[in-house]
Amino acid sequence: MFANNPFDALSALISTDVMQMYIIVMAILVAGGTILDMMHKKSAQYFFENAEKAKANAKRTVSTGEKISLAVSTVASEVITSSEFCNTKRRISHLLTMYGFILFVASTALMIFGNKAEILPQLWHIGAIMLCVGGYWFWFFIRVDVNSEGAKWYKLVRADIFIVSLFTTATFALIWSYLQSKGGVVGDMGSTTLFFALFIVSNTTLFASVLWSKFAHMFFKPAAAFQKKTTVADGSRENLPGDFDLASAEVQAKFPDIPEYMGKNPEYMGHGIRREPPNHY
Ligand code: HEM
Repeated sequence: MFANNPFDALSALISTDVMQMYIIVMAILVAGGTILDMMHKKSAQYFFENAEKAKANAKRTVSTGEKISLAVSTVASEVITSSEFCNTKRRISHLLTMYGFILFVASTALMIFGNKAEILPQLWHIGAIMLCVGGYWFWFFIRVDVNSEGAKWYKLVRADIFIVSLFTTATFALIWSYLQSKGGVVGDMGSTTLFFALFIVSNTTLFASVLWSKFAHMFFKPAAAFQKKTTVADGSRENLPGDFDLASAEVQAKFPDIPEYMGKNPEYMGHGIRREPPNHY
C-alpha cells in the first residue's frame, strides 16, 4: 500500500489534465480565500496600523540587520519548531499536523504533475498518517473545548472546519489507497469509489473554506510572531510592562515601594496563568 501511487490508477478514469486543473483551482481558492479573509477582517490594515503604533512607542530603532536576524529566528523557532506552544502535547500534535500536511500536499502535487520518484507515494502515506495522529490527538484530547471546558468531542462549531476537514481528508485518502491496493477501482460503484468521493469532498472543503476556517493562520502567524519580537526589540512591548526581577537593587531603586509591600527579597511568583491547568468544569 505504501508504494502505491493512487493517482496512477485513477488516471485510467480521470485524465491527468483534469487532476492538474483541480490542483491549480485549489491553489487559487487558497490565495483568494486568504485575500478575502484579510479584506473582511481588515487584518492587514490592523497589522500595519498596530506596527505604526508600536513604532511611535519605540524606545530604540531596530536596525535592518537586527530585523533580518529576528526574521531568521522566527522561521527557525516559531515556524519550524512550533515554539509558541507552551503545552508540549499541543506542540507535538501541531508539528505532526503541520509536517504531515506539508508532506501530503507536496507529494500529491508532485505525483499529479508527473514526478515518478519512488519515494513520493511513501511520503504521501506517511504525511497522511502524521496528519491523522496529530489531528485526532488534538480533536479528542487536547483542544481547549474538550480538555478545559468539558465540551463533548462531537460538538462541532464553524471554527472546526479546518481541523475536521484536515483529518477527514487524510483518513479518506488512506482508506481509498488501501482499498485500491486490494484491487478496488474508482468508478466500479464499490467502496473504493465511495472513499475516493469522500476524499475529494473533504479536500475541497479544506481548500474552499479558507474564508471561514483557520487555514490562513499558517500565513498570518509567522508575521504576527515576527512583529511580536520586533516590539520586544524596540522596547514598545505592546504597552506591557517589562519582566522585572523584584529582588534586584536596580528595580527596587526604580520602584522604591517594593520592599514596603513585599519585603527586601520578594520571591519570584512566576506567571499566575501557568500555576495550574485550566480545567475547572
Ligand atoms: C502546514 C501548515 C500548518 C497546519 C496544517 C497547521 C495546523 C494547525 C491546527 C490544526 C491548529 C489548531 C486549530 C484549531 O484550534 O482548530 C493550529 C493552531 C495554531 N497554529 Fe498552526 N498549522 C500550520 C502552520 C502554522 C505555522 C507556520 C504557525 C506559526 C508560525 C502556526 C501556529 C499556530 C498557532 C500559534 C496555533 C494556536 C493558535 C490558535 O489556535 O489560533 N501554524 N495549527
